[in-house]
Amino acid sequence: MDRLKGKIAVVVGAGSIGPGWGNGKATAVTFAREGAQVFCVDRNSAAAEETMKIIASEGGNATAFTADVSRGAEVEAMVEACLSSYGRIDVLDNNVGIAEMGSVVEISEAEWDRVFAVNLKSAFLAMKHVIPVMARQGGGSIINISSIASIRHLGISYVTYASSKAAMNQMTRTTAVEFARQHIRVNAILPGLMKTPMVEHSAGLAASYANGDVEAMWRARDAQVPMGHMGDAWDVANAALYLASDESRYITGIELVVDGGVTLKVS
Ligand SMILES: NC(=O)c1ccc[n+]([C@@H]2O[C@H](COP(=O)([O-])OP(=O)(O)OC[C@H]3O[C@@H](n4cnc5c(N)ncnc54)[C@H](O)[C@@H]3O)[C@@H](O)[C@H]2O)c1
Repeated sequence: MDRLKGKIAVVVGAGSIGPGWGNGKATAVTFAREGAQVFCVDRNSAAAEETMKIIASEGGNATAFTADVSRGAEVEAMVEACLSSYGRIDVLDNNVGIAEMGSVVEISEAEWDRVFAVNLKSAFLAMKHVIPVMARQGGGSIINISSIASIRHLGISYVTYASSKAAMNQMTRTTAVEFARQHIRVNAILPGLMKTPMVEHSAGLAASYANGDVEAMWRARDAQVPMGHMGDAWDVANAALYLASDESRYITGIELVVDGGVTLKVS
């Protein structure tokens, strides 16, 4: 308890795309359980409010804010709103991400631009506007939610997803070096095969695994993992908690792989 006591955390993509626990929703709730006040941002107002209400129902403190974080003006408004509610930002968790199926031949130019705007530009914009705040305060912790798809071909064709996440890894390392002297830590989490609503609802993912059969997709994903099962949103949330807390104060620029060992395998 209280590993984040006194901290203000912005979780971007704090809702969940469907019923159940997504990574951002579980992270926002975990941060609140550990004493943070959480600014829950999502383009889906109802999803942000649902997370805020869960936190409030447990006695925590949270605010819901609606923004499409692929747009600069909305990210600026998000930062201003958090500062006017809480006065500071200690933790930024960049969790938004979408997957579009397709190789470079199949994907359209518009799909390419959309995935890069949501997965990469959003994190760039959030860091652009939050880092000056953290620098003024004397430091902070930024967590970028990447994917093991950034370092491996997972047998699924989604080149925009994989390459946007790979770019996120290098943006994380570069930014970690450039702001280390200001005590701003920037780390990435690379979740593996997690059982979340995002996977269930991503267009074409179940089709790529198992002809659209979601239960068969879960079984196929379980079988790929050395531990014998997928992870879940709480595994990502607990990794984010560590990186958000002062326990990781000497850690910056890393890629924390949370995958049950799947990236260690040849196939
Ligand atoms: N589930 C997995 O197996 C897995 C594996 C690796 C990485 N990830 C990564 O985890 C992250 C998402 O996890 P999740 O379970 O919370 O997903 P989710 O889709 O359930 O939740 C993400 C939230 O982000 C919001 N969002 C999307 N685009 C937005 C935008 N432009 N502006 C504001 N909000 C926006 C959605 O409305 C949604 O509520 C993604 O970055 C994803 O790539 C997931």
